[in-house]
Amino acid sequence: MTQKQLDESTEFLKSKGFLAPEIGIVLGTGLGKLVEKIQDPHIAHYHNIPFFPLATVEFHTGKLIYGTLEGKKVVVMQGRFHLYEGYEFYDVTYPIRVMKQLGITQLFISNAAGAINLNFKKGDIMLIEDHINLQGGSPLAFKNVAEFGDRFVDMSKPYDIEMCKTLKKIAIEKNISLKQGVYAAVVGPQLETKAEYRMLKTLGADAVGMSTVPEVIIANHLRLPVIAVSVLTDECDPDNLEPVNIAEIISTAENTEPKMITLFTELIKTL
Ligand code: HPA
Repeated sequence: MTQKQLDESTEFLKSKGFLAPEIGIVLGTGLGKLVEKIQDPHIAHYHNIPFFPLATVEFHTGKLIYGTLEGKKVVVMQGRFHLYEGYEFYDVTYPIRVMKQLGITQLFISNAAGAINLNFKKGDIMLIEDHINLQGGSPLAFKNVAEFGDRFVDMSKPYDIEMCKTLKKIAIEKNISLKQGVYAAVVGPQLETKAEYRMLKTLGADAVGMSTVPEVIIANHLRLPVIAVSVLTDECDPDNLEPVNIAEIISTAENTEPKMITLFTELIKTL
């Protein structure tokens, strides 16, 4: 990754009308409907953006959408790059750098995750208050990282405290039960064994998924305030573990999405 590549990606998007977005939003698996609310959308498919990671077969739908949401200019990633597709950490986080260069000053992230905390149920939303990186690497572990920002990034407060507070308030006002907890990121794509779910619980995780942590690390490196929510799509009870059903995970995410849309759109109104 070079600054020149980032500049070219950014200039391309500006030429497509992606001008001065304020908020970046990353939509997780099964969480694409928010884009229907965007007014005057401009769309750029990932495979057309110079230096964006090359798409895998599954990934032909990935796009960046720019437009107006609740009166604010936003840029939304519909589909993200995952380590389990064979991308590197710097690929997974490249779009975050581009959105920052376009001008965003806040980042909202969503994902689908499994509930490790068995007080949480599928269909709940969890505000990520802290995380555990179990992906075996870092998006900051490359030679010339200092050209782009800090190397030894502080992670004592990775999620923006003020936006988290506001989101909790919104959840109460809107009668949405918003859980709070620790997200553990694994590589995947295989789901976890019973022993791994027990381990994750022992480690202090409330939810597990295959994304988000690299993006949050880069947001902190770029001093970009970030919040993240997990839509809990399955209950990871090691003593009663059912075989995974990906179709059900996706449909739970889709059914839960309206609550997430309410949280994000109401949060935008406060910014
Ligand atoms: N584990 C990992 N990732 C997930 C899960 C899970 O149980 N559910 C949704 N994403």
